[in-house]
Amino acid sequence: MPSVYIETYGCQMNLADTELLFGHLGRHGYQRTADPAAADVILLNTCAIREHAEERVVGRLGDLVRFKTRRPAVQLGVAGCMAQHLREQLLARLPFVDFIVGPDAYRRLPEMLGNGGDPFTDIRLDRDETYADIVPQRDGGVRAWVTIMRGCDKFCTFCIVPYVRGRERSLPAAAILDQVRQLAADGYREVVYLGQTVNAYRDGTVGFAELLRRTAAIDGIERVRFTSPHPSDMTDDVVDAMANAPKLCPQVHLPVQSGSDRILERMERGYTVEQYLDLVQRLRRAIPDLALSTDIIVGFPGEEESDFEATVALMRRVGYDNAFMFKYSARSGTKAFKWPETVPDAEKARRLQAIIALQEEQAAAINRTLVGVTTEVLVEGPARRRAGWLVGKTPQFKTLVFPANGEQPGDLVRVRIAETTAHTLVGHREPEA
Ligand code: 5AD
Ligand code: SF4
Repeated sequence: MPSVYIETYGCQMNLADTELLFGHLGRHGYQRTADPAAADVILLNTCAIREHAEERVVGRLGDLVRFKTRRPAVQLGVAGCMAQHLREQLLARLPFVDFIVGPDAYRRLPEMLGNGGDPFTDIRLDRDETYADIVPQRDGGVRAWVTIMRGCDKFCTFCIVPYVRGRERSLPAAAILDQVRQLAADGYREVVYLGQTVNAYRDGTVGFAELLRRTAAIDGIERVRFTSPHPSDMTDDVVDAMANAPKLCPQVHLPVQSGSDRILERMERGYTVEQYLDLVQRLRRAIPDLALSTDIIVGFPGEEESDFEATVALMRRVGYDNAFMFKYSARSGTKAFKWPETVPDAEKARRLQAIIALQEEQAAAINRTLVGVTTEVLVEGPARRRAGWLVGKTPQFKTLVFPANGEQPGDLVRVRIAETTAHTLVGHREPEA
């Protein structure tokens, strides 16, 4: 039986695509291996969101080629967003790469790999491909990531995603709900719905809110989350669904990107700061214990000190539980790529460090208010750094550790929070009432 080794870069969508690749290749006779030295097929599932992500992959391919030098029959390939973005450059710079497959070409992969070992490139984007019929091979655990839509139609001016993942398309609701029922039967307790703009989901008359309501009604699944929604698609219907179905977790990742209207407009994000803040207010009114996280880019072309200060002000105003913060990275093919970069790298780094420090402070302050509060934890397994302790997540998706006392992964337990840092809560089991 041929074996396949896959390394995944980038976002949760890519991790989910790797599970899909394992599932699909598995059905075609490929056995999964965790050891590249033993693999017949070595595949990197790549990310193109920032230049750094691509550089890492190029470096890693240079490492992995030694397995191919030793055993020339090994097929070494690149899948995912960078494959789609840089196919020509990849082939020119790394002639030892055997195959390149874009995110919509995985269905044909077993056939192409079996084709006598000839090199191939398949980067056709397919408006209809959702892989709805392919059963992912998951790693187990208590949480399953379920892709419900693919692609993006928003075309924010900085972003490569619409070019490498193609147009927006949703999986049929029936296929998603069947998958979730099966996950419940397999012992999963939480599902996280995934999509580039997950709340743009639509299947005929079933929109995102309705899908959430139907999911919450599935027995065995205790928690439902989703990532990443776009602020412009966050309708009142979705907010209502979250407020009224306890299984829909009080947590939203709401990428803002910038706190300056001028920059938001140049980014073509489709909302103003005021509209974003209004959405935050509606969410917080409806869901009082809501945790909010975000994505922020600093150093976008044209970002002045005053625009950056507006981003800082927005962060202070919202008070995010968590934030993913990035230096702008010009991506060829996007609209913004043609605009001169106006913020030198050292200044981008300064701005980034400043908001990272602010975010740490704010997250620590928010978490300090949780000391003494009792929360519900979905147990995942042993804590990494404390022997005899368990780790799990709160409804707000905060990591919590507590001393083990016979609890099993998948248990929902009540824990009283005793200590906190910016990233972790420490607690003790609440005696059962
Ligand atoms: N440069 C820096 N960050 C980017 N992101 C997307 N494109 C770029 C880029 N060109 C960030 C955005 C997005 C997150 C997934 O990655 O903040 O929300
Ligand atoms: Fe990229 Fe904007 Fe689409 Fe998000 S919504 S994937 S940032 S183009």
